[in-house]
Amino acid sequence: MDDAQRRRILRQHVQTDALLGVDAVPMGLERAGDATETGGLEPRSARASTPPVAAQATQPAQPAQPSAPRGEELFPQPTRHSKLDRSAKLELFRSMDEHEVRVCTKCELCRARTNTVFGEGDVDARLMFIGEGPGQNEDEQGRPFVGRAGELLDKQITAMGLERGQVFIANVVKCRPPNNRTPTPVEVDACFDYLRRQIRAIGPEVIVTLGGPATKKIAQTDRGITSIRGTWHRYEDQGLVIPVMPTFHPAYLLRAYNLDNRKKVWSDLQKVMAVLAGEERPG
Ligand code: URA
Ligand code: SF4
Repeated sequence: MDDAQRRRILRQHVQTDALLGVDAVPMGLERAGDATETGGLEPRSARASTPPVAAQATQPAQPAQPSAPRGEELFPQPTRHSKLDRSAKLELFRSMDEHEVRVCTKCELCRARTNTVFGEGDVDARLMFIGEGPGQNEDEQGRPFVGRAGELLDKQITAMGLERGQVFIANVVKCRPPNNRTPTPVEVDACFDYLRRQIRAIGPEVIVTLGGPATKKIAQTDRGITSIRGTWHRYEDQGLVIPVMPTFHPAYLLRAYNLDNRKKVWSDLQKVMAVLAGEERPG
């Protein structure tokens, strides 16, 4: 990475911090540019043990915790890698997209769509974001989170010290609900097998659910997003257990763009960063 790139990234961080209303800079995660060259984030052991959040540096050093944190019981193994290698995943996704999703008529949402939106990102991503469903821009382009909500999501990803291409971004439904209405539980269930197989193939270490519908389905809860955001949940599928951090949907954040909500989302993402950096365990 050259100086110009460093300056650009630093500038983005400062802008994002202003946007998110935070007064700390993420430090612990691998620098995005370096990690991309290796095709994704490096294994946990290869990375620095710097605390991921500068704000923590102002706290006195904590003595090592002798007892196991609560997350130890909830998530006996922090990392579950997919059984598939990168090329097998790429082939699986290409085939699923072409032969299943693009021609899918399993629910009503197939009628009004322009394009299906399979999802995109690094098939080996350690972090996966799951949103609600395509909006108008996504339906037109066939890509997730490319409208205004996507711009905000991109900024949040940058603020975490990552690049969009290092995470995987998908939705609980792959076709646009008319007038951007919330997808019904029937539609979410009809579409779920695609997402379930995507999650299994990717095998992320953490899932962030964006908003109510994604959280309800992935974390298997009926509770509202406002009351459960910021608290660790579990995604389970046939022996696979992945920590889930629910947070507000960026589209909601755009509508209710106040300091309090921005700080809440940033605090949720900081918890995710701490887990990815190996500094904390979910729970
Ligand atoms: N909102 C979502 O939930 N998903 C997208 O892909 C875009 C906007
Ligand atoms: Fe098929 Fe999912 Fe689209 Fe419904 S939303 S038609 S289940 S791809």
